[in-house]
Amino acid sequence: MVETAYLPGQQSRARWMRMDTARILKRFFFCERALIIAQSGWLAGIADLDVKTILPRLSWQDAMTANALRDRVFELRYPSRLIERGDDAPVIEVFEQAIHAPSAEALILSLARVFKPALLEAYADYLEYGDELADGPTLRFLGLAVREKTEQIAELTAFADRLLAAAPEKLVEAEAWTHALAAALEAAGGLTLEPPHPAETPVELPGRRPFELAHKPARDPQFHLCRFYWPDVVDKDFPYGDGLMLQLRSAVSHINEAWAVETGGAILHAFADDLDWEFIYDAARWTYDESRHTRMGLDRLRAWGFEPAEIPLGTYIYDSAYGQDPIIRLGMLFYFETKNIGKKNQRAAAFAAYGDAVSQHDMEFDWADETIHAHYGSYWHGKLYEKLPGRVPELESLRARCDELVTAMVATATEADRADIRRVAEAMIEKARRIGLNETNADS
Ligand SMILES: [Fe+2]
Ligand SMILES: [Fe+2]
Repeated sequence: MVETAYLPGQQSRARWMRMDTARILKRFFFCERALIIAQSGWLAGIADLDVKTILPRLSWQDAMTANALRDRVFELRYPSRLIERGDDAPVIEVFEQAIHAPSAEALILSLARVFKPALLEAYADYLEYGDELADGPTLRFLGLAVREKTEQIAELTAFADRLLAAAPEKLVEAEAWTHALAAALEAAGGLTLEPPHPAETPVELPGRRPFELAHKPARDPQFHLCRFYWPDVVDKDFPYGDGLMLQLRSAVSHINEAWAVETGGAILHAFADDLDWEFIYDAARWTYDESRHTRMGLDRLRAWGFEPAEIPLGTYIYDSAYGQDPIIRLGMLFYFETKNIGKKNQRAAAFAAYGDAVSQHDMEFDWADETIHAHYGSYWHGKLYEKLPGRVPELESLRARCDELVTAMVATATEADRADIRRVAEAMIEKARRIGLNETNADS
């Protein structure tokens, strides 16, 4: 006798089979990837120092999520290592429009109101319907992503409010851009657990500006803006110094790693399509690290009592790569950031001797990051050298070229530049002496 009766299996946890799950996660991966590239490419074009140095943390979180999504897709589709946009293109393409925002304000507003909420909602739905028994590994990292996206939306909303309050003339355009993106997402069926569909009629994106890297970095006008951020850069007689001078110089160097944040973002964007996903993953971390170094400097200076207007914020290393192939920017980041790696431990020891625990702490952690960056630089230069022969010079000539460009930039310093930075530095040193004296008096 043939059995025709079966046990029932229509249970809710059987909603998605293995390949359905992989497809949903693959869709999420491409959406995250698009936002990481947009957030990174824009860093040099964002003036506000908080936004410039906090956005890299968001990109790094997104890169961690995207990497977990991608790994999970490979696990589920084993042995295939193929990850393609396929039928998900309509929704991915809307995310890829983010970078073409008409202004930094419009970008931040669209992230706060459209893109991050779409990801948050999709991840929350996934968690609601996902099956822990079959797919626990995904639920763990998407649970974390839900918490991060919730925090990101709050931070981005505050940033959008602040940026638009400072530039109200950009509000109408930013709102129109954001509404149009929401409509475009909706027209593609939204970012959901179901496949998207091509929009019936294409949605116009008002104000869309094809992305271009800011070759002149936008800088926060609260600070003392200049090209050369300490006299010793343009005046060989001005000492790097020790004691209080070294404490100040080191903090000013740290905050001036703003150029490294911009450069990390610029190369992530520039080579995202030439190199594999692993490059984006590394470059997001690299940029995040540089943003932490920048904030270390800001934090120490603020804790000592310096106001932004007293702190010099220069541009000369970023400026040195003006109009150059992005490989030069990779060279600058690799070369100028790792050049002093050997001195960092000495400096940390000097700070320990001064009883300056916070400078020591920052320098020690910076050292650990730089050892990772040295690896990123040589590894990804090597990959680009293989991939783009003719365009990418050998490491030694790349270094020599970077040196040459920076030397040429320093040679353009005028007497006015020198006088300006000397005045700013001397004012800082004098204030630092007063602070140091008060401390000593308070102690005795
Ligand atoms: Fe750094
Ligand atoms: Fe670095």
